[in-house]
Amino acid sequence: MSARLLHGPPAADSLLAQVRQRLQRLSRPASLHVIRLGDDPASVSYVRLKDRQARALGLHSEVHVLPETTSQQELLQLVERLNLDPQVSGLLVQLPLPPHIQVSTVQRAIDPAKDVDGLHPHNVGRLWSGDPGLTPCTPAGILHLMDHYGLPVAGQRAVIVGRSTIVGRPLAAMLLARDATVTLAHSRTPDLHEVTSQAPLLIVATGVPGLITAGMVQPGATVIDVGVNRVPSTDGKVHLQGDVHPDVREVAGALTPVPGGVGPLTVAQLMLNTVLAAEGLQA
Ligand code: GUN
Repeated sequence: MSARLLHGPPAADSLLAQVRQRLQRLSRPASLHVIRLGDDPASVSYVRLKDRQARALGLHSEVHVLPETTSQQELLQLVERLNLDPQVSGLLVQLPLPPHIQVSTVQRAIDPAKDVDGLHPHNVGRLWSGDPGLTPCTPAGILHLMDHYGLPVAGQRAVIVGRSTIVGRPLAAMLLARDATVTLAHSRTPDLHEVTSQAPLLIVATGVPGLITAGMVQPGATVIDVGVNRVPSTDGKVHLQGDVHPDVREVAGALTPVPGGVGPLTVAQLMLNTVLAAEGLQA
């Protein structure tokens, strides 16, 4: 039997409806500022989606495009200027950054109250201490997707594959806070298939196309595929492939497609975070 597909757009729409309601109640305009360095094709595409969605909601949106050769000091100066600007509600620096820039230094420089990516150590600490402020968009979006489709979280045995600061780690904290029992597996986990095949809830965020095959999945499991890998196809074009192999569709009970699964939730959650930042509730 084929898995139920958990399509992202309807779940994202319900999150965006919440954003619109909050925007109406806001006493001052909200704005999102995104800094992008260089022309990495994936970053260009993601930033365009964020900018378009923000504008569609009537948010003020600005994209600051800097050359790949921008020095760390120049980048930090721009971050500081935006930190101090009272018109700026939310601010993020698109990843990945070129190797001469230290990501942690840039993330620490962003005002935690404007940190709509939820990656500043202040916000990371709040999340892990059970007092969340602004939280990372993809994991928060995944929880919204699960809630939208009525999938249980509390009491679930969840296995996350991938320990990134942007998805795997914050998702572990969020699932724990919702009373799931969490295993955080990664590229050095021995016998990964034994761990994944014990998971009624499996979330994969590794950046390795097709890593999770049908034999690694518990029959009937809910599988959330966070991977968006740009893979060259035989016709010379680039197509998007998840971290979950297409065969998994025949084993899983429910599965997010790629594209059109988690991605729209990330963007919608960023809009919510921008409004939360504008409300000043998370500082
Ligand atoms: N690159 C890929 N996803 C993200 C994200 O959620 N935030 C940032 N800043 N960069 C990314």
